[in-house]
Amino acid sequence: MYGSLGQQLCEGDRMELQYNLRKFVPNDLQAVMQTNRVCLPENYTDFFFIDLHQRFPETFIVAEDDGKLLGYIMCRIEMGLSSMGLGGLVRKGHVVSIAVMPQVRRRGIAQAVINKSLEGMQYYRAKQAFLEVRVTNEPAIALYKKLGFEISKTINGYYSDGEDAYVMTKKLP
Ligand code: ACO
Ligand code: ZN
Repeated sequence: MYGSLGQQLCEGDRMELQYNLRKFVPNDLQAVMQTNRVCLPENYTDFFFIDLHQRFPETFIVAEDDGKLLGYIMCRIEMGLSSMGLGGLVRKGHVVSIAVMPQVRRRGIAQAVINKSLEGMQYYRAKQAFLEVRVTNEPAIALYKKLGFEISKTINGYYSDGEDAYVMTKKLP
């Protein structure tokens, strides 16, 4: 399942890009934290990253090329109320943070790391995946829709600057 080679061939003027998808290892910590700081205003302590990795290694995935970190996704498995269908508690995979370096965007890397992470969620027997996203984050919302996530609710003022979040959810097989 891991260590596969993602590849996108030349298409128009898009450059060929090869990258390796694999599970996070502690040695990736500084590069992942740097990518997080470059790409998102929501940043975390090193303990937060390491704790998520120790608890849920199968859903913490990185994309790298020749030792250069291109992107990451990290998730948490939680028990919560079903966002769809009948009520009751279900196991859910929560996408906590995902980012791809600006110079390598729009080459399928986010799609690849999410898909690997969704496999990890299924390994943990999660029945749904969900995440919060800024309502103005059009690239991310388009990405999640392409992967079958649907907007299930809006949380007013979710972010520290007051912006609202959509909660987006996808059923897992
Ligand atoms: N505009 C429109 N659609 C887009 C865009 C965009 N800028 N970017 C991605 N998409 C959609 C498209 O449907 C795309 O498929 P296509 O290229 O065949 O049309 C599909 O998503 C897959 O795109 P990827 O190439 O896999 O996405 P990328 O590797 O560029 O990463 C990401 C997308 C992660 C949103 C990136 O733009 C990024 O890091 N943004 C800053 C950080 C961020 O916003 N992270 C998400 C926050 S929410 C959270 O973490 C839970
Ligand atoms: Zn969240």
